[in-house]
Amino acid sequence: MNKLAASPGFLHGGDYNPDQWLDHPEILKQDLKFMQQAHINTVTVGVFAWALEEPTEGVYNFGWLDRVFAEMAKIHGHVILATPSGARPHWLSQKYPEVNRVDENGRRHTHGFRHNHCYSSPVYREKVRQINTKLAERYGQNPTLLMWHVSNEYSGECYCNLCQANWRRWLQRKYSSLDALNRAWCLSVWSGLYSDWSQVLPPSPLGETKVHGMDLDWKRFVTAMTIDFYQQESQPLRELTPNIPITTNFMADGPANQQYTPMVGLDYSKFAKAVDVVSWDSYPEWHNNYETVAETAMKTAYIHDQFWSLKQQPFLVMESTPSFVNWAQYNKAKQPGMHILSSLQQLAHGSDSTLYFQIRQAQGNSEKFHGAVIGHDGTTDNRVFQEVATYGAQLEKLAEIKGATKDVHVAIIFDWESQWAFDRGGGFGRPTRLGIQTLQKHYAIFWGQDIACDIVTPDADLSRYKLVVAPMLYLQRPATMQALQAYVAQGGTLVSSYFSGMVDEDDRVLLGGLPTPLRELFGIKRRELDTLLPGEHYHVRYGSKIYPTHDYDEVIEAETANVLATYTDNFYQATPALTQHHYQQGTAYYIAARMDRDFLTAFYAKIIAKLRLANSFVIAPSYEVSCQTRFQNGYQYHFLMNFSETPKTVKLQRSTLDLLTGTPVEKKVSLAKYGVMVLREKA
Ligand code: GAL
Repeated sequence: MNKLAASPGFLHGGDYNPDQWLDHPEILKQDLKFMQQAHINTVTVGVFAWALEEPTEGVYNFGWLDRVFAEMAKIHGHVILATPSGARPHWLSQKYPEVNRVDENGRRHTHGFRHNHCYSSPVYREKVRQINTKLAERYGQNPTLLMWHVSNEYSGECYCNLCQANWRRWLQRKYSSLDALNRAWCLSVWSGLYSDWSQVLPPSPLGETKVHGMDLDWKRFVTAMTIDFYQQESQPLRELTPNIPITTNFMADGPANQQYTPMVGLDYSKFAKAVDVVSWDSYPEWHNNYETVAETAMKTAYIHDQFWSLKQQPFLVMESTPSFVNWAQYNKAKQPGMHILSSLQQLAHGSDSTLYFQIRQAQGNSEKFHGAVIGHDGTTDNRVFQEVATYGAQLEKLAEIKGATKDVHVAIIFDWESQWAFDRGGGFGRPTRLGIQTLQKHYAIFWGQDIACDIVTPDADLSRYKLVVAPMLYLQRPATMQALQAYVAQGGTLVSSYFSGMVDEDDRVLLGGLPTPLRELFGIKRRELDTLLPGEHYHVRYGSKIYPTHDYDEVIEAETANVLATYTDNFYQATPALTQHHYQQGTAYYIAARMDRDFLTAFYAKIIAKLRLANSFVIAPSYEVSCQTRFQNGYQYHFLMNFSETPKTVKLQRSTLDLLTGTPVEKKVSLAKYGVMVLREKA
């Protein structure tokens, strides 16, 4: 068992930068006292500390870090030690300018900012190996070391000559011959055929941006290079400290853009295989002016569930904010109660930690107005600190839940490659592709009824699920279609939709309409697709009701499928909009148009009833009160969370024990605005 798995209780703490306060020894002393008061047991140190750790090449300075380890040992805390490659020191960029990235316009960047080094540079890789080796030698056996935090939020790409050479090598390994590459990327279009490997460049606004197969491969290559860099960076840690788990913090997209989805730039399903534990940085925009708190909670829940699903194991929230961020358009404070509610939501969905950015607020520079546990007032006498401390004390009462698992019967399929291809392809509606947002619309139906979901890739073991939801699965390999067929043949229930099975793994259109395996599976033929304008809606009759369509209406023909709903207008009036097909032991549903929540609620209600998916603890779940359950040692732990602006009463099937107060709880409970309870019962 690795050290993290063996350590009891949840991790509470986060990024700590004593390196910014070295000339204030009194502050460091104070921090430790405050950490104890806030029930903080873990600090992540050294994330961007290379310039301090190695002030000039080959000269090391670890005294300050030794003191952090020693101080944390005094309070029986843990250190998550970062490797510092996320921000390099000036001397390194100055002496070896090739470590700086070249952008897609061919410009070599100068030193500055962070997360922007070349992944190919042999010098950078060597310098990283050296510093990481020093860190592993010095702290690897220190009992306070809990885990490695490798680099920080890997992202981005480099177009330098070294990366270009690696790109060509990667393509040569994949395709073996130029002919195969020319065919895969359909290069007879616009005279793109290569006659020599040296002609192959990365996609760039200065040259080629229209070859979709190239874009898709470039994204695969960037993921492969990033993982390769991470592996090499981790190698000395693995060799010198085999029992210390390694992670790197993953990210989400768009919190400042009125959406919130897992990051799509890197294929995390591949990256997750290389880390010992998945961790991510969670920054939802609570209390925004474009959606309800419950809606923000739903999107955040989706991301937690996706990070759980990557390994089907507890993950860590590596960063979150105790109050506000500094990079949004409007950086709102969390309202009273939201810190505890949003933090317990992390645990509810499978996190074994609540870690913050950061413990002490910086005095200067770019993040000085980012929220922190210890603010500029330097006291514990403020609301943010008090809420963190209350939460810390609660976490100690919940310690037995750490490591608990989940019991999930619904899977939603998300594939990074499909998403890349779908976003890139021309045609249809540019602003209305909404790939992940559409998945979140389906997810919302289940989340709103307290039915747990996994978010998995097409190669996952689908046989574990009673229901698989795979709308808009645009790119499909033969293996994906076979897996979907096999899942339904063996008794599974599958829901898919328009935009599924459109292109192959090279982003070439699958000819002949809906590919044969999907045609057999859904019992339909695909005819055509109409893209709707903003505000343009046609309608679908389903049961006794009429529902509007949005963005896309696909025209299909039922061959062997039953028609459950039809369009009521436009040139496809009376044609099928929803079909059901019994395929061997199972059932496959096909939704032809983009439908809203009302339709999806009515549609899934029947499936939920038939498959007996309903939550067995909460009576009549409401959208704004969420219940998520974890399981361990013969107990179930229900997290009841009120994401509404008013108090709520919740009726339960059974009486339980309130773990936070230690008192028995009847079958009816009241939750304050943003209130939360953790209830235990025998499984
Ligand atoms: C994260 C980053 C941290 C800090 C934080 C602020 O993306 O890893 O270092 O910048 O954002 O929200």
